[in-house]
Amino acid sequence: MKGKIVAGCLAPHPPHLVYAENPEQNEPHAECGWESLRWAYERLRKSLSEIEYDVLVVHSPHWRTQAGTHFLGVEKFKSISVDPIFPHLFRFHYDLTVDVDLSKAIHDQAQKRGLATEMMNNPDFRIDYGTIVSCHMTNPAWDKPIVAISSTGGARYFNMEVQQALSFELGQATREAIEASGKRAVLLSSNSLSHRHFVKEPDLPEDMSHEHINNHNQYLWDMKVIDMMRKGQTKEFAKIMSDFTEQATAETDAGSLSWLLSALDFPEYESKFHGYGTVIGTGNAVMEWRP
Ligand SMILES: [Fe+2]
Repeated sequence: MKGKIVAGCLAPHPPHLVYAENPEQNEPHAECGWESLRWAYERLRKSLSEIEYDVLVVHSPHWRTQAGTHFLGVEKFKSISVDPIFPHLFRFHYDLTVDVDLSKAIHDQAQKRGLATEMMNNPDFRIDYGTIVSCHMTNPAWDKPIVAISSTGGARYFNMEVQQALSFELGQATREAIEASGKRAVLLSSNSLSHRHFVKEPDLPEDMSHEHINNHNQYLWDMKVIDMMRKGQTKEFAKIMSDFTEQATAETDAGSLSWLLSALDFPEYESKFHGYGTVIGTGNAVMEWRP
């Protein structure tokens, strides 16, 4: 049977969302917070519950390998992940399973396409919080294996055009490997949209009277690109991704969203929009494409 990407999702990773969900794996506890985004994830989970899938494939800005793309190559990882900026919000005990066969298959296909690649074979490797938050919010039961892919630093080292070209290759390699694997995969682009954030936190982090977009310019950009994604104008979005990334200080500089759009072959159909919300001033959308 030919494998398939059954869904592709924009699945941002502010640790605040896990903090406010109060799962047993996370040490700190919250009263409430960021409901508009947490309910957006709830709608995504409900939507994904209608389809069957075998594996989550996630591309994370916070597993940064400056040159070359790395893939998890060990079946089990168990440890604690602490957010370096928000250790008071995110100290998460994870115990996760990797689909090493698919991970290796995407690695090999990416290598065939000329990308610099590496398998991460260190069993003590610390999984980044971007991967964990996006996977937890999408599938809190953790009952599916994952494939985690690192992001490169091409946007800073060269420029966003270079980063996009690499991400497009990686997206195609991901699709080809999934199709050859016979598996049904859900893809997660783990990133915020606009990403300039406040540098002071209220005494109570979940005090929502302090939460709003960092600046109007960011909001305009976020609404523009969400509208394009909703309408299926993803090719057009890819063309202005560099401007968006620079002018909205967007987290798309990691290439996660470019990877996703390429893996989905730049959808021209409407996406499902599950919700938008800010976290410490950054703009975040939860969206879903069904190829
Ligand atoms: Fe981030």
